Amino acid sequence: MKDIVIFGAPGAGKGTQSDFIVERYGLTHVSTGDLLRKEIADQTELGKRIKSIMDAGQLVSDDIVSEMMDAAIAADNKGMLFDGFPRTVAQAETLDKLLAKHGRTVTCMVQLEVPREELIRRLLERAKIQGRADDNEETIANRLAEYGNKTLPVAQYYARQGKQKIIDGTGTIEAIAARIQEAIGA
Ligand code: AP5
Ligand code: MG
Repeated sequence: MKDIVIFGAPGAGKGTQSDFIVERYGLTHVSTGDLLRKEIADQTELGKRIKSIMDAGQLVSDDIVSEMMDAAIAADNKGMLFDGFPRTVAQAETLDKLLAKHGRTVTCMVQLEVPREELIRRLLERAKIQGRADDNEETIANRLAEYGNKTLPVAQYYARQGKQKIIDGTGTIEAIAARIQEAIGA
């Protein structure tokens, strides 16, 4: 069973590449961003609490996402693809503990590398089509700052464990998918 982390800045292509990876390896896709946006769309108590934080491009608290992941992992028996989680070193430590409860461990972490200008170009392009609340210039800048300050240290966490696989995230979607498959292996 594989448990894989897909990692990268906002707009790096985590969601796009997730489709290929879950199909290839038979995994359950879990995106914390999607789960949190659903809470907002459903106007739950949690959704009301986190809306302004997400609209500002800041990270929601580690406790909130850790609780969501605890439930998601407990419900899964196929292996998972974690998209948008972990986003802090504390979350990475939590993920190790949550998986260990079920005798599981992170197999590898796939890190998509895309230059900042390309990230911004992609997100502004998506803003025209999808209108995601956080795809505007000011919020994108905040999301990238949060990524640099709080999330990038997670890459070192996996590098130290020998689990980091750095992938060139530029080019066609298919070419990137092929690079990822080669890095993950059979
Ligand atoms: P989240 O939903 O995870 O968003 P994000 O990390 O900002 O990243 P995106 O989903 O925007 O980008 P992506 O890497 O998935 O790229 P995509 O494939 O869509 O998080 C949103 C918010 O939720 C956070 O800001 C935070 O508030 C909160 N949150 C979530 N998780 C959290 C956590 N663990 N802890 C705390 N807070 C958390 O691609 C982007 C665009 O580019 C698309 O339009 C796509 O079609 C296009 N594209 C993709 N690949 C290519 C390519 N090769 N060439 C050209 N265009 C491409
Ligand atoms: Mg995404």
